[in-house]
Amino acid sequence: MNLLVKNIGTIAGIDESGRTRVSGKAMDDVAMLENAWLLTDGVRIKDYGTMDTLPAEEQCEAIDAQGGWLFPSFCDSHTHIVYAGSREQEFLDKINGLSYEEIAKRGGGILNSADRLHDTSEEELYRQAMERIDEVVAMGTGLVEIKSGYGLTLEDELKILRVIRRIKDTAPLDVRATFLGAHAVGRAYRGRQGEYVEHVCNDMIPAVAKEGLADYVDVFCDRGFFTPGETARIIAKGAEYGLRAKIHANELAVSGGVEVGVAHNALSVDHLESMGDEQIEALSGSATMPTMLPGCAFFLGITYPPARKMIDAGLAVALASDYNPGTAPSGNMRFVASLACIKMKMTPAEALNAATLNSACAMGESRDFGSITRGKMANFYITRPLPSLAFMPYAHQTPVIEHIVLKGKIVK
Ligand code: NIG
Ligand code: FE
Repeated sequence: MNLLVKNIGTIAGIDESGRTRVSGKAMDDVAMLENAWLLTDGVRIKDYGTMDTLPAEEQCEAIDAQGGWLFPSFCDSHTHIVYAGSREQEFLDKINGLSYEEIAKRGGGILNSADRLHDTSEEELYRQAMERIDEVVAMGTGLVEIKSGYGLTLEDELKILRVIRRIKDTAPLDVRATFLGAHAVGRAYRGRQGEYVEHVCNDMIPAVAKEGLADYVDVFCDRGFFTPGETARIIAKGAEYGLRAKIHANELAVSGGVEVGVAHNALSVDHLESMGDEQIEALSGSATMPTMLPGCAFFLGITYPPARKMIDAGLAVALASDYNPGTAPSGNMRFVASLACIKMKMTPAEALNAATLNSACAMGESRDFGSITRGKMANFYITRPLPSLAFMPYAHQTPVIEHIVLKGKIVK
């Protein structure tokens, strides 16, 4: 049924230009309309305007926004939401001085999550993941990417991807799936990394593609994990099966991940805590979206990506949560935007664009998601009245969301 929202104080994040990303200086601009209404056709945004042109309400569901703000739902282009249990023991290890890499070398980290996933049923994994999905939906996310990568055997990678598919089929928000078999070398292949890469390419990717379980392929291209050469091999194989690449790059070191991603026309290169001028240069003029995950830098206590330098160099940048048990146990995109402002000196407008349109672009989905645009998916949330746009990242813990609409349906 059509849905009419009236008495909106301000619609923020309007875009009718047809652009698929917003870059450089333009990121600091968010188009708004005050004293407005918005109408959906039941699934997509049909129209909007100012209250003096309010359409008749017959045969419509209606929401009275009572002067609140209407924002496009967050797009979270990088998460690992499907995992078993939690890893707060490693949280304590980190407090006591161990680094993320040291924990991984001792067989903890990703392998710890792989062991737990192996011992957990699909049903239970789904149940745990749906709790996290409900949590991120309540915080304003409307499109989410979810990675595998806690299986690390053919069977368990298929298991985690089937859970992601079930979430896709049942959750109120839109979901995209990424095959991340090369997240770490599976235990059975310890010391035989090259053979594991071949297993990923020759056995896992074809099996995943056969069941249609993934939209994208990812590799953890970093010091102590996979090399640029191995990454190139895996993403080229993924491309044969129609999977676009999204790369974990430059979290722990300048890894070559940015360059290999750009060379293979990856949708995005993500993390970027270790970036030199050469990497910024490599991204200039490419279609690959640099994606920053400040929740990870916050949790690990490492350097934040040079967001200012990238935007000032004219790049588009995206923000995502990285929601995972080891480096970012939160999917709160509003807090991610706050960290972008506080720690990376992005403006609230830049952070909003990065967490909506550009994050949708990092999934190749910005034609349908990421802004308030006629014809785009009706994915938005409505807050109580706010003093300004900047209030959102400023008062980052104040609950302000009153209504949530996803795919045209009232979720809250
Ligand atoms: O994006 N860096 C690699 N992968 C995840 C962490 C995974 C984990 O520790 O469980 C990340 O930070
Ligand atoms: Fe990640």
